[in-house]
Amino acid sequence: MATNLMQADAQYCQLGYADIDQILGIEEQVYSHPWSRGNFVDSMLSGYQAFGLRDEAQRLFAYFIVMPVLDELHLLNLAVSAAKQRQGYAQRLLAHMFAYAQERGYVSILLEVRVSNRRAVDVYRRDGFVEIGRRKAYYPAEGNTREDAIVMRRIC
Ligand SMILES: CC(C)(COP(=O)(O)OP(=O)(O)OC[C@H]1O[C@@H](n2cnc3c(N)ncnc32)[C@H](O)[C@@H]1OP(=O)(O)O)[C@@H](O)C(=O)NCCC(=O)NCCS
Repeated sequence: MATNLMQADAQYCQLGYADIDQILGIEEQVYSHPWSRGNFVDSMLSGYQAFGLRDEAQRLFAYFIVMPVLDELHLLNLAVSAAKQRQGYAQRLLAHMFAYAQERGYVSILLEVRVSNRRAVDVYRRDGFVEIGRRKAYYPAEGNTREDAIVMRRIC
């Protein structure tokens, strides 16, 4: 019940350049290898779509970015601020993303996730994503090493 009340207060919205400072605040808090400001600017310049959740004080606390590739939507980034994790907000963003994809006729949503990111893999799996492959040494990792990506897809 408490979670539902908190979730009802969260406002879903489209994001743009003016939100990048807030996005970076979360990005740098929750990722070991965060995107740079330039990555977000380039994504928006390329027309990739960004959406997020704001709290009652209009502070952004979660977001995702998707890139259309023909009839497929590619999830590039999804994050929830540390204070708001484990309250179902990623699940909620994924529900919005799925509705967005269905409304526009995309046939599937594709994503990559670090093999070590068990929390995210479990969230995606619970949401209906299935592993369809691996990309070797896809991500930079600790100490100049590389980490594999799990490629997951959900059919719309
Ligand atoms: C991965 C990430 C997006 C998940 O966000 P989240 O909002 O915490 O996800 P949810 O709350 O929807 O689900 C997370 C867990 O909380 C649980 N949960 C959901 N609502 C809950 C509630 N009200 N009370 C307790 N637990 C709850 C879920 O069952 C899930 O459990 P699990 O970890 O055992 O699978 C978040 O941890 C994050 O931003 N990580 C850093 C960035 C990142 O790794 N992004 C993914 C890149 S591919």
